[in-house]
Amino acid sequence: MSDMPLLLPQRLKAESSVTAKRGYQIYMETFGCQMNEYDTELVRSIMKARGFQFTPVDEEADIILFNTCAIRENAHNRLYGHLARYKARKKERGLVIGVLGCMAQNLKQELLDSRSWIDVLVGPDAYRQLPDLLTNALEHQRRGLAVDLSEYETYSQIVPDRGDGVNGWIAVMRGCDNFCSFCVVPYTRGRERSRDPEGILEEVKRLVSQGVRQITLLGQNVNSYRSGAWDFSRLLVAVADVPGLHRVRFTSPHPKDFPPALLEAVAQHPIICNQIHLPLQSANDRMLERMGRGYTRREYLVLVEAILKKGPIVLTTDLICGFCGETDEEFHDTYNLVKEMEYQAAFVFKYSERKHTIAARKFPDDVSEQVKGYRTNEIIELQKEISLQKNQAWIGREVEVMIEGDAKKSDQQWMGHTEHNVTVVWPKESLNGLPGELVSISIHDATPSTLYGMVTKGDGRREK
Ligand code: SAH
Ligand code: SF4
Ligand code: F3S
Repeated sequence: MSDMPLLLPQRLKAESSVTAKRGYQIYMETFGCQMNEYDTELVRSIMKARGFQFTPVDEEADIILFNTCAIRENAHNRLYGHLARYKARKKERGLVIGVLGCMAQNLKQELLDSRSWIDVLVGPDAYRQLPDLLTNALEHQRRGLAVDLSEYETYSQIVPDRGDGVNGWIAVMRGCDNFCSFCVVPYTRGRERSRDPEGILEEVKRLVSQGVRQITLLGQNVNSYRSGAWDFSRLLVAVADVPGLHRVRFTSPHPKDFPPALLEAVAQHPIICNQIHLPLQSANDRMLERMGRGYTRREYLVLVEAILKKGPIVLTTDLICGFCGETDEEFHDTYNLVKEMEYQAAFVFKYSERKHTIAARKFPDDVSEQVKGYRTNEIIELQKEISLQKNQAWIGREVEVMIEGDAKKSDQQWMGHTEHNVTVVWPKESLNGLPGELVSISIHDATPSTLYGMVTKGDGRREK
C-alpha cells in the first residue's frame, strides 16, 4: 500500500461532521462480466458493514467507484471516458475516486503514474481492505493501493448485497490457471481457487428465501471446480436440488476438459437448463494451438456430437477474429464451422492485444484493424442470420418462460428467457403474473435476439 498525500476534498472538509453521521455516500459503476457484477455485490456488503452507504445519484456521492474490466482495449477506453468526467467534477467540489477490479490489477503502475487524481486502486482479491483505504483517503488524504493477488481469498464469509429480482449469480470459484495466450484474466484475477460447497449451498438457500428463482453459477472454467470430494457436476446437481428454484445455469465450461458427468447433469436434471456456453474461439488448429486452448477442431466437434446426442441442448459460443497471424483461409475455417454448427448465439470479438499475456510476448499482433473488423462483421452477420432462422422456427409454438421483470423498452411488457436463454417479450395485459413465475407464451414474431408473444390462452400461469 502506498501512502501518498492527496488534496482534501473541499466539500468533505466543510461538511465532515454531517457526512460522518449520515455515512459517506458511494456511487458505483460496474463494467465487464457477471463475475464483476457479483464482486460489486461483495463490495457493497463489505462497505455497508462499515457504515458506508450507496446512492444511485452520482451528484450526491462523496466517493465514486468503478469496478473495471481489462479484457479488451475498448473496455479500457470506456473507463477512461468515465474517469475524465469525474476528474473535472473532483476539481470543482472534491470527491474520492477509486478504481477497482481487473484494470486496477493489470494497469496499476500506469494508472498511478498517468492519472494522479485517482485516490484508491484495489484489485479483485483485496476488497476487504477497501473500507480502510477509502477512510484514509477521505479523512487523511492518503492515496491507497492494494493489488496483491491471493491464493485463498474466496470471500466465502461475505453475504453479497444484492438488489431484488428473481435472478441470482454465485461465483463458485475465482481466478484462472488456463493461461490461454490471448487472455488477461489469469493476471488480473490470479490463481484458481474454489469456494466450499457448504457455503455455496447456504447462499443458494438464502437467495431462494429472498425470492430468487433462477441461479447462474459462475467461474472462468467451472470444470476446474474442486473442493474435497466435490467436483462441479456434483455441486451443480446439489444446487439444482435446492427446493424453490425453477432454473439453474452455469458459465463457462472449457471445451478442453468438459466432463461426461456434467453433460449427464444437464441432460437429466429437470431444472438445469438445456443450454451450454462452449467457447470455440477459433476452428483452425494452428490458431487454437497458438491460443493455447488445449483442444483441436476435431476434439471440439467430438464433444459437440456427444452433447447433441443427449437431446435438444442448445449451444452458444465466443469467437475471436484476427488473432496473431490469422490468414484468410484460417479465418474461413472458423466462418465455415460457425455456419455448420448453427449456434443459438455467438459473441464475436476482434482480437485485442493485452499487456503481460503470452501472445503479447510471443506473437506479433499483425492482422490489421481493418481486416479484424471485416472478419468480425462477417461472422456477426452470419450469426444474425442463423439466430433469426432459429428464432423464427418458434413462431406458432409455445415456450415456457420465467417472468424476470419489465422489458427494456416498456414497463407495459414483461421480459423473460426460454430454457435455451432466448429473450422473450410479451404484453403484461395478457396476465397479471409476477416475476419468478413460469408462464407459457405463444410466439408470433422473432428477431435475431428476441421472441415476441402472448400468454397462451387457457394455460397462463404455471407453477413448476
Ligand atoms: N473463461 C471464459 C472466457 C472469459 S473472457 C472461457 O474461457 O470461456 C470472455 C471472452 O472474451 C473469451 O471467451 C474470448 O472470446 C474473449 N476474449 C478474451 N480475451 C480477449 C482478447 N484479448 N481479445 C479479444 N477477445 C478476447
Ligand atoms: Fe481467459 Fe482462457 Fe481463463 Fe477463459 S479459460 S479466463 S479465456 S485464460
Ligand atoms: Fe471479467 Fe473483464 Fe475481469 S471479463 S474477469 S471483468 S477482465
